[in-house]
Amino acid sequence: MSSKMQTLMFLLVLTISSFTVKASPSDAGIAIYWGQNLGDGSLSSTCNTGNYKIVLLAFLNVFGAGRTPIWNFAGHCGDWSPCTKLEPEINYCQQKGIKVLLSLGGAIGPYSLSSPNDAKVVGDYLYTNFLSGQFGPLGSVTLDGIDFDIEGGSNLYWDDLARHLNNIRQQNRYFYLSAAPQCFMPDYYLDKAIKTGLFDYVFVQFYNNPPCQYNIATSDATLLLQSWNAWTSLVLPNNTVFLGLPASPNAAPSGGYIPPVDLLTKVLPFIKHTPNYGGVMLWDRFNDVGNNYSNQIKVYLIKSALQFVTQVSEAIAASVSTALNALLPN
Ligand SMILES: *[C@@H]1O[C@H](CO)[C@@H](O)[C@H](O)[C@H]1NC(C)=O
Ligand SMILES: *[C@@H]1O[C@H](CO)[C@@H](O)[C@H](O)[C@H]1NC(C)=O
Repeated sequence: MSSKMQTLMFLLVLTISSFTVKASPSDAGIAIYWGQNLGDGSLSSTCNTGNYKIVLLAFLNVFGAGRTPIWNFAGHCGDWSPCTKLEPEINYCQQKGIKVLLSLGGAIGPYSLSSPNDAKVVGDYLYTNFLSGQFGPLGSVTLDGIDFDIEGGSNLYWDDLARHLNNIRQQNRYFYLSAAPQCFMPDYYLDKAIKTGLFDYVFVQFYNNPPCQYNIATSDATLLLQSWNAWTSLVLPNNTVFLGLPASPNAAPSGGYIPPVDLLTKVLPFIKHTPNYGGVMLWDRFNDVGNNYSNQIKVYLIKSALQFVTQVSEAIAASVSTALNALLPN
């Protein structure tokens, strides 16, 4: 090969490499809980920030065991202002490519499942009212999935609900299932359900859990990183794990807040290369608004930024060495 051709190939490699600088849809991002404080701002404005790839509507907090389901979106809507008004905003977010999931549970119930059959009844209710496009409490929406943020009631039959929803999505249209366990393992409420392997996303709550969260007093991430490794190994290879964090110190009374600079230097470099790293989950939009957290961290979460730099450096090194070999006399 002539050295001219080598140089040409070198340029070609550089050109091809430079086209890979864009985040793929599967790349890391931020999932945010929305709906528990009027200070969240509207759902549309939340999606307009461009900061989030998943929005979790919080919460459907009364259901199961024959209860009439009740959704609680704090001051956003309720009996005084029907939640069907969210329909255009949900559509707006989805048009922007943001996945909108309904979150079940939260800190305040009551909710529980009384039997495997009750899990089926609840699963069918969720599909018909939120996932099928038929008219329901949020209007005629087709949400992207269901999140299990189970923190109370009973720990029974959540695996049955996951399996039933999985049957429904296999028979109809695929939708996502996610779970938001506490970092302390095994999670009392969700362990059995998570071990079904059916949750596309696992938003592990590394807050209000001193045995497995970031220690802000000593700037020590040891317990958090140990827990991260345990969680990501548990749900390999199919389930993506998000680092669940409070968006401000106030969001988690028992701690776990990680100042942006500590996140960038002490945590992200160690978790980003886990094959099933998905990004960061934040509690919640209200705290994110007040603390400007997602704006400060979003550019650092993407996996491919570093992968790209590595690929380009390798491509350049290979081309330079080939070009030099061609130029040097034997
Ligand atoms: C991962 O997904 C593949 C393809 O759907 C499936 O065959 C496999 O059993 C799954 N593995 C686990 C551990 O769930
Ligand atoms: C929020 O953070 C971004 C990124 O660091 C910064 O550009 C912006 O000025 C901040 N906004 C406020 C209100 O502090």
